[in-house]
Amino acid sequence: MAIETTFSIIKPNAVKKNAIGSIITMFEKNGLKVAAMKLTRIEKTKCEQFYAEHKERPFFGELVSFMTSGPVVLMALKGENAVTRNREIMGATDPQKAAPGTVRALYGDNVGENAVHGSDSLASAERELKIFFEAKEFANT
Ligand code: RTP
Ligand code: MG
Repeated sequence: MAIETTFSIIKPNAVKKNAIGSIITMFEKNGLKVAAMKLTRIEKTKCEQFYAEHKERPFFGELVSFMTSGPVVLMALKGENAVTRNREIMGATDPQKAAPGTVRALYGDNVGENAVHGSDSLASAERELKIFFEAKEFANT
């Protein structure tokens, strides 16, 4: 088992419903530590860069417009197998298919507005963390 750092976003719909604290508690209670964090809005060009792999998908425009529609919480989450563990805590992309008790089952509204993002691999995590954080923003924990 390895200590990893993954990238997480609490999306605008979850921020809007006052679920920041509840969602972070779920991460903390399941072995992940917040290593960096900011409440901010994502600029459109940065959002398009972040989601570049989905550029050709029919939902790309809708996705970028949703993700830039309001404040989000950007986080680095650190712990044993953080990439996989975070995906397990989040649940499936579609909240209706997400296992009971997962973040998306509890706070997701639909497949687009699904409350959280989490990196899908260690390589993605490294790429995504670099887009949103500088080295000095990480706590030394
Ligand atoms: P994420 O990247 O946000 O953690 O989610 P994921 O890996 O579970 O899903 P992915 O396939 O990477 O899709 C990225 C985000 O695009 C939105 N989406 N909308 N309307 C649709 O059919 C659709 N499909 C995906 C979701 O916000 C998803 O999280
Ligand atoms: Mg993804």
